[in-house]
Amino acid sequence: MSTQSKARNVTLTTLQKIKENGEKFACLTAYDAGFSSILGDQGVEVILVGDSLGMVLQGHDSTLPVTMEDIIYHMQCVKRGNKGALLMADMPFMSYSSETQTLENAASLMRAGAHIIKLEGGAWIASTTKLLAERGIPVCAHMGLTPQSVNRIGGFHVQGRDTEQAQAIIEEAHLLQDAGANLLLLECVPRSLAKELTNSVDIPVIGIGAGPDTTGQIMVLHDVLGISPISPKFVKNFLIESTNGIPGAIHAYAQAVKNGSFPAEEHCFH
Ligand code: KIV
Repeated sequence: MSTQSKARNVTLTTLQKIKENGEKFACLTAYDAGFSSILGDQGVEVILVGDSLGMVLQGHDSTLPVTMEDIIYHMQCVKRGNKGALLMADMPFMSYSSETQTLENAASLMRAGAHIIKLEGGAWIASTTKLLAERGIPVCAHMGLTPQSVNRIGGFHVQGRDTEQAQAIIEEAHLLQDAGANLLLLECVPRSLAKELTNSVDIPVIGIGAGPDTTGQIMVLHDVLGISPISPKFVKNFLIESTNGIPGAIHAYAQAVKNGSFPAEEHCFH
């Protein structure tokens, strides 16, 4: 493998340039030093310590039980193995419900090694995004299907299917960009909505279950390696065809994202 595919000192500027050049970047979750190191070596630009750890590591049926201590611990592990990827940390459920709590928790994640924090929500997180941005903490706003709201949504369903809802998501994306968000993450929305939204904002959009037209793609590590108990439509197991075990599977994922072959039509919602 050429060293050029390694992720070296990726910053938000790197990601912004990738968008401006019409290229793509790859993101994956990781929760420990070993995988963190493999991901960087195989060309993954962004590593997320996601609250998905509640489901794939801890065995819960949602992300709600995940605590700040959990994310801090796993971020410290990922940071030790990091080879130059941009590290993103999830703010877990109810960890950003007041200004003081938000600032203290975001600061703890940055001290643990995060370069950017991720919050779930739409218009209602615009003031929180502004609060953090003004204090120098970069924000990724997670929109569309927001798993921390699973009980309000009524399940892990595709969002933005009707025109009114799709329009609202686009308006909220602009609100969050104006509030200072550096990245948007769009989960489980129709391909056409993700494409329109990506083209209408200046900042990079990362998709999961949102089709191939976003600037970046993200997946849960366990899904890419085929070890999750459930396999939604947008998931592809890259380990099956790997001739070089786990590093080969991660490399294939990163390359497929960058050359636009993943996600394919069969992974898209319409
Ligand atoms: O927690 C997580 O892993 C996530 C991804 C599904 C994007 O938020």
